[in-house]
Amino acid sequence: MKVLVIGAGNMGLTYAEGMSKSKLLKENIMVMDKSDEKLDELHQILHFDAYSNLEDCIPKADIIFVAVKPYHAEELFKTIKPLVTSDQILISIMAGITIDVIQNLSGVSKVVRAMPNLPASVGLGLTSYVSSSNVSRIELLTVEGLLSTTGKSILVSNENLIDASTGISGSGPAYVFYFMQSMMEAALQMGFSKNDSKLLVSQTFTGAIELFNQSNLSPNSWMQKVASKGGTTQAALDSMDDNNVNELIKEAAFAAFSRAVELGKVS
Ligand SMILES: NC(=O)c1ccc[n+]([C@@H]2O[C@H](COP(=O)([O-])OP(=O)(O)OC[C@H]3O[C@@H](n4cnc5c(N)ncnc54)[C@H](OP(=O)(O)O)[C@@H]3O)[C@@H](O)[C@H]2O)c1
Repeated sequence: MKVLVIGAGNMGLTYAEGMSKSKLLKENIMVMDKSDEKLDELHQILHFDAYSNLEDCIPKADIIFVAVKPYHAEELFKTIKPLVTSDQILISIMAGITIDVIQNLSGVSKVVRAMPNLPASVGLGLTSYVSSSNVSRIELLTVEGLLSTTGKSILVSNENLIDASTGISGSGPAYVFYFMQSMMEAALQMGFSKNDSKLLVSQTFTGAIELFNQSNLSPNSWMQKVASKGGTTQAALDSMDDNNVNELIKEAAFAAFSRAVELGKVS
């Protein structure tokens, strides 16, 4: 099987690197970019075959992975339309561009729309994906195998859940960083050095996530394990409850979800 990645930006290269380790591929990944600077970089990477022309690589591809910015989609799809065949599968990670739009503009009928997140770059990403109805179960297993090379992936039942996953996993790393930033600021104000503040917070997150991942307990149960009645943790949790932090976080996630839906309508 041959995979072509179009767009050698952050996300394209992350997935190209991940997929190149997949046992499903017997040959080098093809990576295509229009920028000369990116091509120079690509030529240095021995496990990629670099291309500057779509005409040279599209006909060889079984799977076409599109990782350009959404505003480049129309121009790109116009160029690939005369080059594609009915058995090729197109995977798009472009935010907000629907399967319908991709099918109409590109002429490809087997389309997978995926939503990645930034931790994909360290192999701990979460990619949610959905496909057009003509992608077979076996083809979906192949797609899942490729997407999971950057972490984990989940197949969702409709495109609305792709926008919803933007609000949870897509934008989610920023919510975690928001929380980390607040805790680091508090640590600094309590008198810790910058380095110690960073270590206190990062190790606390790593440890808590590891506890969560190694058990079947809910976050609520873990909270109860840390907190004792009248103790220090309970004082913090009560303060968060008094300030409605739980509701505010949910509101923030829904704000991202709504924005993803809105952006999809203008694309
Ligand atoms: N970054 C994230 O966390 C994230 C999360 C979810 C989804 N996404 C999606 O991932 C996609 C890629 O994001 P990115 O941050 O990796 O973008 P990026 O860094 O801008 O990379 C895109 C690359 O594609 C090139 N390109 C543009 N048009 C092309 C064409 N017609 N043919 C070949 N190459 C072309 C660009 O060249 P030029 O620079 O010369 O234009 C650039 O090198 C976006 O659609 C975004 O919505 C990103």
